[in-house]
Amino acid sequence: MPTYTVFSIEPPASPSQLAAYKTLRLTSLQMDPQAFVSNYAREVAFSEDVWRERLDSPYKRAIVASVRRNHDASHPTCILPSWPHSKKLEWVPNWEIYALYAMWVHPAHRGKGVGAQLVNACLEWARTNVDIKFLNEKGGDSEKVVALLVYNDNVAGRTLYSRTGFTDIEGVPAEEGERWMLARV
Ligand SMILES: CC(C)(COP(=O)(O)OP(=O)(O)OC[C@H]1O[C@@H](n2cnc3c(N)ncnc32)[C@H](O)[C@@H]1OP(=O)(O)O)[C@@H](O)C(=O)NCCC(=O)NCCS
Repeated sequence: MPTYTVFSIEPPASPSQLAAYKTLRLTSLQMDPQAFVSNYAREVAFSEDVWRERLDSPYKRAIVASVRRNHDASHPTCILPSWPHSKKLEWVPNWEIYALYAMWVHPAHRGKGVGAQLVNACLEWARTNVDIKFLNEKGGDSEKVVALLVYNDNVAGRTLYSRTGFTDIEGVPAEEGERWMLARV
């Protein structure tokens, strides 16, 4: 049984980390298109700057797990942008909302607890991250939450999220077949 190392890609990402991340994300969109709101055709057309912004933005963090020790080539991933990036997520005035997205574990590594390790690492990053922009705009009186969108028929995803502390968000509009889930951190 392989041992997994879960780590965050510290900005600035190296060229090899950037290339590995891009390959990983595009592979996930090809292998599990039904799981994601985005799609391969959209992201394969992204410029290098868009990929770099995903990894180097001070408001986002990519968390990956690797079966290797060199922290370059990795299989599973999730990425966590913080509040200022998504107007859509401003539901409650004093919530500092982090969005967890692009969660994926390569099929060869599923069912071994890697997904749960990744989600927990994301929750920990959100718990400890200080978002200066949010603090300046909203002040200190806020509650940190992590939110995500999952399709109703994604049993693996919904089980993973409920096992890691997420519950359905009441009263937030979602498209047909989707639901928002939330964890307080
Ligand atoms: C969802 C996904 C990330 C889960 O990753 P994983 O590494 O297999 O998950 P884990 O092994 O950590 O399992 C976490 C929990 O979910 C459960 N689970 C995992 N896959 C499951 C499945 N297919 N059916 C039911 N439960 C499942 C596990 O039993 C475990 O629960 P437990 O703690 O009670 O044992 C993976 O299946 C995946 O990448 N799917 C395709 C992409 C996707 O759906 N992403 C989410 C988009 S919102």
